[in-house]
Amino acid sequence: MQIPLLDLKAQYVKIKKEVMAAVSEVLESQRCIGGPKVVELEEKIAAISDCKFAVGVSSGTDAILNCLMSLDIGAGDEVITSPFTFFATAGCIARVGAKPVFVDIDPQTYNINPKLIAKAVTKKTRAIMPVHLFGQMADMDPIMEVAGKHGLAVIEDAAQSITSTYKGRKAGSIGTAGCFSFFPSKNLGGIGDGGMVVTSDQKLYDRLAMMRNHGMSPKYYHKYIGGNFRLDPIQAAALLVKLPYLDEWSQARRHNAEYYNMKFAGTVVKTPYVSPDCVSIYNQYVIRVPKRDELVKILKDKNIGCEIYYPVPLHLQECFKYLGYKQGDFPEAEKAANEVLALPVYPELTDEMKDFVVESILSILG
Ligand SMILES: Cc1ncc(COP(=O)(O)O)c(C=O)c1O
Repeated sequence: MQIPLLDLKAQYVKIKKEVMAAVSEVLESQRCIGGPKVVELEEKIAAISDCKFAVGVSSGTDAILNCLMSLDIGAGDEVITSPFTFFATAGCIARVGAKPVFVDIDPQTYNINPKLIAKAVTKKTRAIMPVHLFGQMADMDPIMEVAGKHGLAVIEDAAQSITSTYKGRKAGSIGTAGCFSFFPSKNLGGIGDGGMVVTSDQKLYDRLAMMRNHGMSPKYYHKYIGGNFRLDPIQAAALLVKLPYLDEWSQARRHNAEYYNMKFAGTVVKTPYVSPDCVSIYNQYVIRVPKRDELVKILKDKNIGCEIYYPVPLHLQECFKYLGYKQGDFPEAEKAANEVLALPVYPELTDEMKDFVVESILSILG
């Protein structure tokens, strides 16, 4: 049996006709930039995120970059975030000239530990960027409290967590703005790159919309120095086809996660913890195991897909050496990086496939 970490073809065969028709509609219209598909997707994503506005952009990375630029965060500023995330989170902070300031994670949820944030706030801090990792939102109430006390913006990196909830509130709707990625492996994935920023702040929305198009309004009058962060209408068309399936797909992922949880119960495998405040969309199902690297080798030999998200915490990345962090600064992030392993959790997995994954792991770990 071959079980990839993610099988996008299994999804595509079911919606191929719809995707082809939607893409063809864009091609026939020759509205190759912007247009009604982008607007329709923005309205729908804003609605499902309980936000007033949405701005389609070229990727999750550009969603974060646009947010930072639109909030005028740059040289001399600090942004507090998690060291245990995909590179883009901190990469964007550094790209606008600001300093990423890391705070360790909660070892259960892998999200930023809100208890440690206040200590990291300085006069230069402008924003907090919590990451809703693997499909579960960060503990937002205490984060908003610190932000409120110090007048900081909160940019939710919700790239992995569209429609997930915290105390019934949607990802992206609690902070100043939320950033989504439509990278194909996300629960709502495009047929290429794409992203979106959601907000309920009219002023920020106007700025985000201008910044994604070179800070221009009206045409050829540039109020700001922005970029080309536009969402491709072909991506918008494909995403509009997929959007009605999103809840069903996330539900199937939750079902798969619960199935694994049941099968791993009472073993050495530490299954994901979901806070009672949260509903996870399980963009990833991440276990913690002893002898993780040996396990990876054997699973790969057995053609079972798995991945380490993330093997090197960001404070130890070569490109961030200039920040002056060292091994041991964020012990929980470092420990997680050595022990975590993502297993296949995509919606089309059958029970037989999940059984094979579980049995293979338990036969190795005992
Ligand atoms: C937490 C997080 N932030 C940001 C991004 C960047 O999104 P994109 O790949 O669409 O640029 C990703 C993508 O994997 C992510 O997982």
